[in-house]
Amino acid sequence: MLTALSHRGVILARGVNAHSCLSRVLHPPSACRSRRAMGSVSIPPPASLLRPLETPQRLLSGPGPSNVPPRVLAAAARQIIGHMHGEMLEIMDDIKKGIQYAFQTQNNMTLAMSGPGHVAMECAIFNTVESGESVLVAVNGIWGERAAEIAERIGARVNTIVKPPGGYFTKEEIEQVDLQLVFFFSHSHNCLFLLDAVASLGGSPILMDKQGIDILYTGSQKVLNSPPGTAPISFSERACKKMFHRKTKPLSYFLDMGWLANYWGCDGKPTRTYHHTGPISGFFTLRESLAILAEMGLENSWNRHKEVAEHLHKGLESMGFKLFVQEKHVRLPTVTTITVPPGYDWREITVYAMKHHNVEISGGLGPSSGMVGLPLSFHMTCLASSLIKISRKKDVQKTCHKRESESGPKKKKKVCVMCFRCCA
Ligand SMILES: Cc1ncc(COP(=O)(O)O)c(C=O)c1O
Repeated sequence: MLTALSHRGVILARGVNAHSCLSRVLHPPSACRSRRAMGSVSIPPPASLLRPLETPQRLLSGPGPSNVPPRVLAAAARQIIGHMHGEMLEIMDDIKKGIQYAFQTQNNMTLAMSGPGHVAMECAIFNTVESGESVLVAVNGIWGERAAEIAERIGARVNTIVKPPGGYFTKEEIEQVDLQLVFFFSHSHNCLFLLDAVASLGGSPILMDKQGIDILYTGSQKVLNSPPGTAPISFSERACKKMFHRKTKPLSYFLDMGWLANYWGCDGKPTRTYHHTGPISGFFTLRESLAILAEMGLENSWNRHKEVAEHLHKGLESMGFKLFVQEKHVRLPTVTTITVPPGYDWREITVYAMKHHNVEISGGLGPSSGMVGLPLSFHMTCLASSLIKISRKKDVQKTCHKRESESGPKKKKKVCVMCFRCCA
């Protein structure tokens, strides 16, 4: 009881007025009521916030964040320091070096955005593209669609080449596109090449400098196993030349690389100036995640993902699942997509996995919505075996739901929602 009271006191003191809140906790409710009646506050504190924070333990195998290891969680629990303190700037320098290693780049213009992957996406496009300029986006799912929309919103002339979800583009295919359209590809055509590696960086080979990538970004919450909220990004010299010789200022002040370059000490100026208050705890965790990657070695991380993905794919196929991406060599080791078996509702499957096993898997997004279920293997050696173990559990196999036949009169059939084999 005492613990609960003091815990409540802490929550209240953070959110509202420390004095009035603590007294509300310590004084009987009737006294509280009369004080409230006399004061100027007419909206009471929400009852839900007077209860301690509770969060479940889950295996995160969905397309969102991945589980965070204890060392990274411990970094988040450290007391914060000022965002411009010398020690903080050193931590930011460590992060920069860690990103250069993870991206395999010597680009000086390398930093972490304060925000999720979308912030990096917008930063990349807002800074390098001006209204009226041409952009070609290779779209094979929701992320290409979003990149196209972001470019469209700033007035770019957007052209797309589209493949169905699960499809991929070769360099030759993109180069064959009418180059009047010009975008992010091939240096010989004076274009910049942008790559979104939010779902893959650290888990599959990407070599920014060797592969001639001009703009590369990722998110902290996937392979890097940090909490969401920071997004590593890097710009080549060609990209810097383009973005720092614009005719107009970037539309977003927050995402202006002129400011961010100084905040991250990338512009060669002797002093770093306040631009915004960075997510200090987020930078602590990102630093630790990058340190783990550096200790493990990038190639070991790629190999580990490959091995885990192959194990997962083999296990899934042996249980009768069909993988969504047909060609083995183009499957990402970090994202495993399963075709939803005919007649099933993917939502029911994901709800079941969450409810009975605290495992998050998810359906597709955008154009792949309804076509795939997505167990992902972000940096988690245990994931493949966990999923396979779960699907073999006796209680799951006994748990059936009723499936409606796709045509004709509604015939009920009992089928296991995890193994998709009829167990009637
Ligand atoms: C390839 C890709 N790009 C961009 C994003 C957006 O990242 P965020 O949700 O961190 O904004 C995601 C998120 O899953 C992604 O997978």
